[in-house]
Amino acid sequence: MEKKLNKNICCIGAGYVGGPTMSVIAFNCPDWQINVVDINADRIRSWNSKDLTKLPIFEPGLDKIVKKCRDVNLFFSTKIEENIAKADIIFLSVNTPTKKRGIGAGYASDLKWIESSARQIAKFSEGHTIVVEKSTLPVKTAETIKTILHSFEQDDFISLGKKKKTFSIVSNPEFLAEGTAINDLLNPDRVLIGGEDEHSIKLVADIYKTWVSPKKIISTNLWSSELSKLVANAFLAQRLSSINSISALCEFTGANINEVSGAIGADTRIGQKFLKPGPGFGGSCFKKDILNLVYLCRFYGLNEVADYWEQVVNINLWQQNRISSLIIKNLFGTLSNKSLAIYGFAFKANTNDTRESPSINISKNLLQEGAKLTFFDPKVNETQILNEFNEFLYEGNIKVKDTALDAAKGTDAIIVLTEWEEFKYLDWHSIFKIMRKPAWVFDSRICLDQKHLKNIGFKVWTLGTTD
Ligand code: NAD
Ligand code: UGA
Repeated sequence: MEKKLNKNICCIGAGYVGGPTMSVIAFNCPDWQINVVDINADRIRSWNSKDLTKLPIFEPGLDKIVKKCRDVNLFFSTKIEENIAKADIIFLSVNTPTKKRGIGAGYASDLKWIESSARQIAKFSEGHTIVVEKSTLPVKTAETIKTILHSFEQDDFISLGKKKKTFSIVSNPEFLAEGTAINDLLNPDRVLIGGEDEHSIKLVADIYKTWVSPKKIISTNLWSSELSKLVANAFLAQRLSSINSISALCEFTGANINEVSGAIGADTRIGQKFLKPGPGFGGSCFKKDILNLVYLCRFYGLNEVADYWEQVVNINLWQQNRISSLIIKNLFGTLSNKSLAIYGFAFKANTNDTRESPSINISKNLLQEGAKLTFFDPKVNETQILNEFNEFLYEGNIKVKDTALDAAKGTDAIIVLTEWEEFKYLDWHSIFKIMRKPAWVFDSRICLDQKHLKNIGFKVWTLGTTD
């Protein structure tokens, strides 16, 4: 522990987690200097953009915090090596997507970005450094990180004759949800810190204690912390697959899924949250984290446990495919020579993130049936949308418009796939007038006023009802 505490944090990875999390730490801990580094120079340029609407991530409230802290005690840069060297604490917030090939392909996490960051830390750090796992990682990843770091402790000590490097590993998974990230970070339900040495746990806890009640700070061993993050996401996603499976049953029985959801959620043991039915969960993490859990279970021979959790992902895909099939069925069984407007491409409202968005799979199913699609999303740009459909693009079959009204022109149906608040308040009369008749609205988020739409003349399908 030779390094005098400089109160210096380096965060590797300026993405959806690194950017907002470090902004909130900088906001609450003015005596700490925070350097957020990334290999992606474009992303760093956007973080440093004078125009705060150009930040790489859209999150309500983020721009105000960045405005206050940036270039005061919060810095975004590509200077990875020098910021590692200065840091007392390094947060690893790099991406951990599902492996695409090799052992565990389609299930296990690809840890190549974690490994390369660990190697950089090992090489460039000085004195004692606390390495914090902020990314979501499979249980026992800390073992891999330790092995890499400790091998450099030896190298450096023996061969270079420099100040001895030492490391502590702490797991501090992030529970923020996109769209509410700033509020989640400012008012977390809990902060989880897993580790092996009390000193490092305390140092990380002290940072959070500047704005989080000590009662909400939970400390565990490393492995419980790593596993709890995967399990938290698996439980949340399980609720969604459960309610979505029941939405299908409602459509046959005359029950209404919102009423069922309200009735079961009134039981305090079940609770109201995370019971909103929809077109299936999206986002970069639920699917990847459950598949990672499935992989771990199979690795340890727990095949029944693996099958149980995999079904949560299977039902999610089934819900998306079910919605595409219903649209096709209602539009007389064919989509050739039909144009459909897709309202919403983000995986949920209040974010510009489209990773694993249900809109992607549902749109692909519709394109496969020969539909022409026109997209509108208030926060997702044309390039982001077109990038998802490279293999489907041909003359004029996919368009992206700047307004909901433009997107509706000449279409046979509007498919609402993201619950943007503004969709409720659109001028549905004008939209109806410019559509081909019969004009349909498919509301997969149960966010529109069905009666109002029917009065205008629309044919309406709403998830989880027979109305
Ligand atoms: P992201 O892809 O938005 O950001 C990761 C960033 O890391 C990228 O900008 C990438 O360029 C950078 N990076 C990769 N390797 C690097 C290296 N060696 N040096 C410097 N930069 C490097 O990912 P994200 O959504 O922020 O997720 C990060 C982690 O946090 C994942 O493990 C994810 O599961 C977890 N997580 C995400 C969320 C969320 O809401 N997105 C919430 C909780 C946890
Ligand atoms: C989720 C978790 O909520 C976070 O705690 C976690 O940190 C994060 O994953 C992560 O590890 O990445 P996020 O994916 O950003 O956060 O957003 P959620 O609000 O969880 O929504 C996920 C998906 O479920 C979205 O497609 C959303 O529309 C859908 N959803 C959510 C519903 O369909 N119904 C609901 O009631 C809630």
